[in-house]
Amino acid sequence: MKSLEQLYDPERFRALGHTLVDQLADYLSSASKADANPQHEPEVMLDGYRDILAGHLSPAEFFNNYLKDSLHVHSPNYMGHQVNPPAPITALADMVNGIINGSTAIFEMGSTGAVMERLVIEKFAALLGLANTTGGFMTNGGTLANLTALLAARAAKWPEGDVWSDGNKDIRPCVLVNEEAHYCIDRAVKIMGWGEAGIIGIPADENFRMRTELIDEAIEKAKTEGLTPLAIIGSACTTSTGSFDDLTAVADAAVAHGLWFHVDGAHGAPVRLDPNRKHLLDGLERADSLIMDFHKMMMCPSLTTGVFFRKGADAYRTFHQKADYLLSFDTNEEDWYNMGRRTFECTKNMMSLRVFSLLACYGAEVFTDYVVRVNTLAAALANTINTTPNFELALEPDCNIVCFRYRPHTTNHTSDDLNHLNAMIRAQLVQETAFYIVQTTLRGQVYLRCTLTNPLTQQTHLDAMLEKLSATGKALVALRNTLQ
Ligand SMILES: Cc1ncc(COP(=O)(O)O)c(C=O)c1O
Repeated sequence: MKSLEQLYDPERFRALGHTLVDQLADYLSSASKADANPQHEPEVMLDGYRDILAGHLSPAEFFNNYLKDSLHVHSPNYMGHQVNPPAPITALADMVNGIINGSTAIFEMGSTGAVMERLVIEKFAALLGLANTTGGFMTNGGTLANLTALLAARAAKWPEGDVWSDGNKDIRPCVLVNEEAHYCIDRAVKIMGWGEAGIIGIPADENFRMRTELIDEAIEKAKTEGLTPLAIIGSACTTSTGSFDDLTAVADAAVAHGLWFHVDGAHGAPVRLDPNRKHLLDGLERADSLIMDFHKMMMCPSLTTGVFFRKGADAYRTFHQKADYLLSFDTNEEDWYNMGRRTFECTKNMMSLRVFSLLACYGAEVFTDYVVRVNTLAAALANTINTTPNFELALEPDCNIVCFRYRPHTTNHTSDDLNHLNAMIRAQLVQETAFYIVQTTLRGQVYLRCTLTNPLTQQTHLDAMLEKLSATGKALVALRNTLQ
């Protein structure tokens, strides 16, 4: 039994910290050889960790186990979900935050975090080419950010109907969004109590972009059904395929119908920093609100999300609760330094330190370098797929998300066969090789899906991954033929 004095002892911390930093540095330097996703059965893993709890391991042994068993996003073979490998300095920032344990709810509790948060929002507003009236805050993830932005939209658009105090009453609000949008928009609408009718999915075109020419008709239809549209949401980009809606057309429609224009840029807003692809986000500057995750394409640990409002003051209208011991919500003063007035959270991790440390120590260029690098890798993967027999792309990638499938030309396959085959190929790849990729279903067809988030992945890794897929596909088809 250790004493609390030992637990808080600075010298013990020093020794433990040095060991751990060494362990992490070793971990990072061996990441290039790592199996990206060591597979575990949940129950087996649960038992293993029960044993660890019972076994009184040393901290070094325990962390070693943890490192070994986890998903390795720093492996160049990691090409799975939209989670980036955090730049190591951001992990050190987290360690600092772990000790300081400030909260940005009110200035007194987290002055440093609040100041950095404001500067991070200002800096990225400028980098993204947003208006100089832009203001905002940071929050825990894209899901919460989208909900908070829509709550702000409701308060800003309908200040007279006091929804906050009286509920939705007679009004039946709705939003319009690409049917391919992330499910958290649907969730936000349901949380706000607007039900199934509160979300109108606009059909997507063959590249999974919103068919903006259908917006007018959808709005008219909604109105005749007694709904009151609040907002149109542009996806920049969609989750499955990384497709960017035409934000200029969405902005035009929002203006024409007097609606709020929100952009879910959780994944793709950083693409604005890529000189060769920034046109995909033309119109972004017209958004009333925008969200962007820093843990998908901006090298930060999860969760780190920015919420931007073209008119920064709009964010102050969202919440009206009294919390006399903390904040005054009765004031019209923009007390930007009390972040809790605008955020869903009360206590909130000082996540701005992660972004700020990158900005302060390396400069804004590293963000551009990163985005260009991963987008270029995705283009290289698409190129290789296009020239490799028996593979086909679902669509040319706009950013670092690539959807494709194995489709042997030698034999006839039904659509079900192909779905089954691709799901089996992925399962085998993940189980039997060092690579980690995921899959998605696009219009009923199973596709393999890679998100290139690791800037240290190289063409050789892409080639090796495709070779493994090809060999697995061939073997599975041969097996099927012998069994038939
Ligand atoms: C377009 C989009 N929006 C929102 C989210 C949700 O973000 P988070 O996981 O940070 O809550 C995602 C996650 O993949 C996404 O791709």
